[in-house]
Amino acid sequence: MDIEKVRDFYEASYSSQGFAAQRKYPNEELCRFVGRNFSMLSPEHRQSVRMLEVGCGSGANLWMLAREGFDTYGIDLSFESLLLAERMLKGYGVKATLSAGDMTDLAFEDGFFNSVVDVFSSYCLDAQSGRAFIASVSRVLARDGLFFSYFPAKSSEAFTYHKPANLLDDDTLSGIYRADSPFAGNHYPFRFLHPLEYEQMLTEAGFEVQYSEVVSRTYGRRREQFSFITVEARKVA
Ligand SMILES: C[S@@+](CC[C@H](N)C(=O)[O-])C[C@H]1O[C@@H](n2cnc3c(N)ncnc32)[C@H](O)[C@@H]1O
Repeated sequence: MDIEKVRDFYEASYSSQGFAAQRKYPNEELCRFVGRNFSMLSPEHRQSVRMLEVGCGSGANLWMLAREGFDTYGIDLSFESLLLAERMLKGYGVKATLSAGDMTDLAFEDGFFNSVVDVFSSYCLDAQSGRAFIASVSRVLARDGLFFSYFPAKSSEAFTYHKPANLLDDDTLSGIYRADSPFAGNHYPFRFLHPLEYEQMLTEAGFEVQYSEVVSRTYGRRREQFSFITVEARKVA
């Protein structure tokens, strides 16, 4: 797929808007994932938990992960986002290892991470690249490592009523072109899944799904509903 289109969009967005391009506080479903799985660990133990955020953007989730005491890593396609993330981390007095890279081809050793998290980032990949991404996550995760993802659900009205966007494959819109849709203006591949499709993809890639929910919110003063799959899976194969 045309990854340059996504990179160009985000470089322009971070350059022109700075921190306003993304959220500044961590995603609430990611906080719940951390609470469910790691809250019982001592601060010493947490230092040995290597956690990667793919598509880390300007660092809104990274600073929380670093402050929670994990050995934190972030990668993003966009250089501008990494400059912002560096400033964000510095502002909180915490550290993370940042690098530029493509999440479909993670440049880390096999089994390096205990957890990989994806907060509204891998949806920028079409179906084929999305499968390459899951294979890449599986490779860099240690056995029993945990994957978390917060991902657009097909029940969203942005997917159901997507015209004038086209479908690039069964899951992926050419962008969000309808002017009154949430995320309108995101003119690059924008993928949605049904939770069962996501679960099946993970199972086929050697994961055991241990949590899967859909969370919805409305936009435009309750006019339009947008839903996210929040899924968590353990690498078992
Ligand atoms: C909507 S932002 C979310 C940022 C961050 N996860 C957050 O929650 O604030 C999506 C991010 O994914 C990054 N991204 C998209 N495709 C990518 C890829 N193939 N590899 C790495 N990063 C990618 C974009 O540059 C952008 O920073």
